[in-house]
Amino acid sequence: MRYKIVAGNWKMNKTLEEGKELANAISHNLSGKIPSDQKVVLCPPFVHLLAIKEIINPVDNVFIGAQNCYSKTSGAYTGEVSAPMLQSAGIDYVIIGHSERRGYFNETNAELGEKVKMALAHDLTPIFCCGESLEIRENGTHFDYVKQQLQESIFSLTGEDFSQLVIAYEPIWAIGTGKTASTQQAQEMHQRIRNDLEVQFGKDLAGDCTILYGGSCNPGNAQELFACPDVDGGLIGGASLKADDFVAIVNSY
Ligand code: PGA
Repeated sequence: MRYKIVAGNWKMNKTLEEGKELANAISHNLSGKIPSDQKVVLCPPFVHLLAIKEIINPVDNVFIGAQNCYSKTSGAYTGEVSAPMLQSAGIDYVIIGHSERRGYFNETNAELGEKVKMALAHDLTPIFCCGESLEIRENGTHFDYVKQQLQESIFSLTGEDFSQLVIAYEPIWAIGTGKTASTQQAQEMHQRIRNDLEVQFGKDLAGDCTILYGGSCNPGNAQELFACPDVDGGLIGGASLKADDFVAIVNSY
């Protein structure tokens, strides 16, 4: 199903108390105000998940997501968190393949494909991230690069599994830099992604896929980005840490 989604990626920010305060402010402002075709997802650090889930639970159309999960179900993998653990804790979404995971933790397309499958097998909705660096954008190979990320991680999914997935296009040069992709750049890439998905999964499934934009999305630019025909919402980093900004972005449709 294609939804309008605004997801907040808190990254490694906020103590537990600060996170609860933020979630309370967001819940208070959004309670009863989110239309049924729209969803809001909060993705705090692992240790905050249950506390934040409890705060947002009563608010319709607000969901809880993790920022990562491992590609194995259990075992001697010190420091990792598995998809079945997230499932058992009642988590709804999981971000997979954020460029910071790919960059700092060397996560490869193949490994991310495993994580996506693991998440889907445990009823988590993956928010699969893709996007190119500035260097790749400047040498003009960004469309091919993003297509390859999709090809090597999600093209082997069954249509049924693919239909559960959310995609987030996040150009690395726009993440946390204050430099946003123009509406033209965002729409152009989202359309290319949808075309590539159509070739692989067919017109209906590609048309139903939710594709989010991420990268310095803020209350000042969200409205025009979300108005692009192939942009279904946003994955928000910095601006998700301030309740007023995040709520304003949610209200940008
Ligand atoms: P940003 O981060 O909004 O701070 O640019 C987006 C993201 O990394 O998901």
